[in-house]
Amino acid sequence: MFEEIRMLDNFYQTSSFFPMPVVLVSTLAESGQTNLGPYSLCFPHIIAGEGKYAMMLICREDSNTATNIRRTGMCAINFIPDEKKYMENCVTLGFPGESTEEKMKNSIFTLIPSRRDNGNGEHPELVEEAVQIFECTWDESHEVSLIEGCSNFLLRVDNILLRREYRDAIVNGLEAKRFPSLPIDWGFRDNTSFWFAETKKPYAVDIPKSKGVNVNTVMYAAQRYDPSVEWTPEACEKIINVPRIFLKRVFKGVVEAAKTEGVTIITPEFMDKVRDKRSEEKSN
Ligand SMILES: Cc1cc2nc3c(=O)[nH]c(=O)nc-3n(C[C@H](O)[C@H](O)[C@H](O)COP(=O)(O)O)c2cc1C
Repeated sequence: MFEEIRMLDNFYQTSSFFPMPVVLVSTLAESGQTNLGPYSLCFPHIIAGEGKYAMMLICREDSNTATNIRRTGMCAINFIPDEKKYMENCVTLGFPGESTEEKMKNSIFTLIPSRRDNGNGEHPELVEEAVQIFECTWDESHEVSLIEGCSNFLLRVDNILLRREYRDAIVNGLEAKRFPSLPIDWGFRDNTSFWFAETKKPYAVDIPKSKGVNVNTVMYAAQRYDPSVEWTPEACEKIINVPRIFLKRVFKGVVEAAKTEGVTIITPEFMDKVRDKRSEEKSN
């Protein structure tokens, strides 16, 4: 049985249960010190189109984070691992009204320079304890203030840094034990506390094996292997039955041949040509 609930401001935490990530947004204060602000309303916003990926951050207009993004145009989104001591410190760092200097005295996080910095301190520092970090540039042309006191920042993702083990897991194949442990923020509830939850072990649910799906999977893997070369669905269909672990080898051979010949779109005919050439080389 459902019952309607009255919607209040911040409906996602006052009138419902909405799982959110926990990130520390690092920005540069005017003094040059890095400021860490905890945020949860931070989601992928533009998800496709080369070089255009962007996040949306919903942020109190007069927070240190908002002021710094507006002044410097930069921030880094640090995803904090699921440990109670980190959540406790996030809540401390989330107390409104403190200057960077005041609040950062209480931070337990380790700050390291951005690699794009060349030692000049021009970029916000990064949180060493993070699982992954998105370094971003604010796209000013999209600033939206949908409600008073609140800024929506469109943040172009310049680069994504992942801890090596998780990067390897994405690139070389996922297993449940290789997922990072990231917390869920259930928000500031009951006007007294933030509520967090641990994530459980992930599990895979296989998609039904239909033809279209398999072609898409191969196309996705091919694009990931080398985004500068395009594969037609028909070309991908030809290698649908190649076991996943050998796919990379096939991509490598075909992409190398395409680049040598200046081909940018892989068609079934081109694949036949590569195959014929191979067997010719073998028989010689
Ligand atoms: C876990 C957590 C999540 C938060 N999420 C948001 C959010 O999405 N948007 C927001 O405006 N404030 C959020 N806050 C409150 C800000 O952290 C708070 O305004 C803080 O003063 C911001 O720090 P800053 O002034 O250094 O940017 C959150 C606080 C915590 C503890």
